[in-house]
Amino acid sequence: MDRYGVFGNPIGHSKSPLIHRLFAEQTGQDLSYEALLAPLDDFSGFARAFFAEGQGGNVTVPFKEQAYQLVDELSERARRAGAVNTLKKLDDGRLLGDNTDGAGLVRDLTVNAGLDLSGQRILLLGAGGAVRGVLEPILAHNPHALVIANRTVEKAEQLAHEFADLGPLAAAGFDWLSEPVDLIINGTSASLAGELPPIDASLIQPGHTVCYDMMYGKEATAFNRWAAEQGAARCLDGLGMLVEQAAEAFQLWRGVRPDSAPVLAELRRLLA
Ligand SMILES: NC(=O)c1ccc[n+]([C@@H]2O[C@H](COP(=O)([O-])OP(=O)(O)OC[C@H]3O[C@@H](n4cnc5c(N)ncnc54)[C@H](OP(=O)(O)O)[C@@H]3O)[C@@H](O)[C@H]2O)c1
Repeated sequence: MDRYGVFGNPIGHSKSPLIHRLFAEQTGQDLSYEALLAPLDDFSGFARAFFAEGQGGNVTVPFKEQAYQLVDELSERARRAGAVNTLKKLDDGRLLGDNTDGAGLVRDLTVNAGLDLSGQRILLLGAGGAVRGVLEPILAHNPHALVIANRTVEKAEQLAHEFADLGPLAAAGFDWLSEPVDLIINGTSASLAGELPPIDASLIQPGHTVCYDMMYGKEATAFNRWAAEQGAARCLDGLGMLVEQAAEAFQLWRGVRPDSAPVLAELRRLLA
């Protein structure tokens, strides 16, 4: 049986084993997928030992940059993202690194939520690994403008500079912005602490602006609760992004695309 797993530390909370078990059942693929607690001081040795037998894996916090360094070959989107969340052992034994986080977000926005990103004014909050990974896939949908706002403005400026060749990208501080936008994506980790990025309520046009928090949980996140209070047209969370990035990885490994809708529904049911 082909062996897969997700590498992280900590890893006990990971929903990836359940998602991939459901994908495998649905598509009739014979594989095992386990949560793997990699040591903080030797991710590379641990991953190499796994791949003596294993076929593929996902990588989560805090190893995505180390996985980027480990692989023998990178997909273009992983190279752009500077991080790897999916590993695949190629036929010749070399390791391919991919990054499916951005494709997962964009698929959740466009397919699951039915949004058309082209021509939209989009605000991305945060300038960490998650935001870096979604810039290229969002810009590929030709938004009118994409602004990255971050607490540490220099990091937003650095990203805007690095990705400037791909589309209309700008950087800002949270308090520089006041004009309403069509879509706000929260890619900060503020919600983890129940906090809010300090943006002005005027950025939300009541009944029009859609808000998306990459974080998810049993309850609405702090950002989505705030957005709903400001009259956002829709408040979406990152559970769909999680399932869609997994579907993208599963397709890379197995050559078959699972139907993510029933798996997302099952996760939503379990979360509640
Ligand atoms: N749904 C999914 O599949 C998925 C996938 C990946 C990530 N995520 C989520 O995305 C979020 C970001 O992850 P990451 O890997 O990019 O984290 P990261 O690399 O650690 O970056 C964190 C970002 O959040 C900002 N930040 C942290 N606390 C803040 C606060 N109190 N107020 C304002 N800004 C704050 C940081 O600003 P500074 O630069 O100023 O420090 C930085 O831009 C997390 O919530 C993670 O769970 C979800």
